[in-house]
Amino acid sequence: MKEIKGLLFDLDGVIVDTAKYHYLAWKQLSDQLGIDFNIKDNERLKGVSRMRSFEIILEIGGCTMSEEEKEKNCSKKNEIYLEYIYQLKANEVLPGVIEFLTDAKAKGYKLALGSASKNSRVILEKLDILDLFDEIVDGTIVSKAKPDPEVFLKGAELLKLAKNRCIVFEDASSGIEAAHSAGMLAVGIGTVENLPEADILLAGLNNITVDEIINKLQEV
Ligand code: BG6
Ligand code: MG
Repeated sequence: MKEIKGLLFDLDGVIVDTAKYHYLAWKQLSDQLGIDFNIKDNERLKGVSRMRSFEIILEIGGCTMSEEEKEKNCSKKNEIYLEYIYQLKANEVLPGVIEFLTDAKAKGYKLALGSASKNSRVILEKLDILDLFDEIVDGTIVSKAKPDPEVFLKGAELLKLAKNRCIVFEDASSGIEAAHSAGMLAVGIGTVENLPEADILLAGLNNITVDEIINKLQEV
């Protein structure tokens, strides 16, 4: 394994638990559309783009819509979602994340966000951690959604690092697949049931340092 210099982090589910707000917003929209959408269905939306998420919901409801209507509904969902995000408190950052990022930065690692979300900057600002990242790669600058590797390849490029110098932190299987397609090792935040392909698995970023993770990755 090459010496690791860059750390690429997914946002939703790794840095902050926004899945519950995505769910509440999609649920409100689905109710208005008469589609029976539940918390279990919400699992299918993790790591998936906003439009693809809506298409999955339409499939669940057995509905079809014109592109224009789909766009309108996605905007509506985002308005509802942003009402939750504007209420987000800095203490909602997941346990251990700030310590982990601060320690990694102090040790000289380069940090980038690699997220499908178009709301990533406002979320990081709300959590007061935007400045910890050297680069932000998100849904506003990438066009191909995970499992496409674009988001992580762009992250390595902006950090000016070769792709095999970077590792990825992800909670969605589409993100693990994207990391591997980019030629990067993937640290899964979750369980073996959800993320069987991850190179190593953690419950979260608490009680561990980046150097300990890299040592574990060297053993796999
Ligand atoms: C991902 C989430 O990070 O971002 C998905 O896991 C979400 O659930 C996607 O659909 C897009 O987010 P946004 O904020 O642009 O609607
Ligand atoms: Mg995620």
